[in-house]
Amino acid sequence: MIGKKMEKALNEQVNAEMYSAYLYLSMESYFKSLNLNGFANWMRVQTQEEMVHAMKIYDFIISRGGRVLLKTIEGPQTKWDSPLAAFENLSRHEQKVTSLINNLVDLAIEEKDHATNSFLQWFVNEQVEEESSADELVKQLKLMENAPGGMFMLDRELSQRVFTPPASQGEA
Ligand code: FEO
Repeated sequence: MIGKKMEKALNEQVNAEMYSAYLYLSMESYFKSLNLNGFANWMRVQTQEEMVHAMKIYDFIISRGGRVLLKTIEGPQTKWDSPLAAFENLSRHEQKVTSLINNLVDLAIEEKDHATNSFLQWFVNEQVEEESSADELVKQLKLMENAPGGMFMLDRELSQRVFTPPASQGEA
């Protein structure tokens, strides 16, 4: 059975992951409005991944005998000054999510909740990947600032990203 403090903190993370999905869906819409459909595709896949993160925590709370209580999801930003500005926002956001995950691990240790600590290690590793792919794209976009042709090549590359659904809930 999960403790009340941990249950509440994990519920907040469900909301944070859903907010991430909402933010990236908003970015998808922004890229669509610029006709950068590859960038939009990348954001759609990112959105789907965030929903997998949210549902993974949702299922975990329930599997530990807890209760999921959904709350309002904050409205995301809807426009950015440039594709670079959107990816810089994404990169900053992922850093923030990493600190939220780290706080959850700290709490699990404090509460001596080994099952939750073990569950959260998947997210610790996932955040390394999330931050690194965001950083890579920020760097590529910075290099392209004075070479608009590169933007179309990157757009084509990002159109290749495909969402891979988790094999089963709990194994995302
Ligand atoms: Fe769910 Fe992008 O971290």
